[in-house]
Order: sequence, then C-alpha cells, then structure tokens
Amino acid sequence: MVDVTFGFHDGTERTVEAEVGWKLMEVAVNESIPGIYGDCGGEAQCATCHVHVRPDWRAATGERTPAEEAMLKAAYDVKDCSRLACQIIVSEELNGLSVEVVDN
Ligand code: FES
Repeated sequence: MVDVTFGFHDGTERTVEAEVGWKLMEVAVNESIPGIYGDCGGEAQCATCHVHVRPDWRAATGERTPAEEAMLKAAYDVKDCSRLACQIIVSEELNGLSVEVVDN
C-alpha cells in the first residue's frame, strides 16, 4: 500500500492508502473521492477521472497514452499536467503521489 493525496478546489486534501497495481481512478472511486467517477470503467473514454498531477510527480507518473491524449482534447480545464487517473497505475514509486481533482 502507498499513500496518495487528492486535492480539491476548496483547498482541502484527502490522503488515502492505495493498493499497488490498481488504477488511480479505481482507488479514488473505492474511496468515494468527490469529482472522480470513472464512468467508462477505466477505458480513457469519459474524462470523469481527470486530475492535475502536481509538479513534483509529473515525471513519475509518465506520459499520456494516445487514447488519453485524444480524450483530454474534449475535456475541461486541460493543462500540461492533466492526466486521466484511469491511466495511472499505482506503484511503490508513486508513494506520496499528489494530484488535484478536476471536476468535469
Ligand atoms: S474512467 Fe473514463 S476516462 Fe478514466
């Protein structure tokens, strides 16, 4: 298990324990994180798991997949740090990961 932190527009945060191997979206939905819904089941087809990865974690979370890139073109409030949480797989290296929820 590793710790991941979700930040919200009101400045609050919530840190939860995440199972290695799970998608970050699955962790969020399992923990009822507001603003992350995972409507497409993690297939990069809905953007209801859109997050902004905080600067310290951008390299560790890797590059967007082609499907993710395409989906983000239709999403709201897209930035260079935007990722779909369903395309981020939790690993030991992501212990302490911090992202901000983008409520589409
Ligand atoms: S769950 Fe649909 S794009 Fe991530």
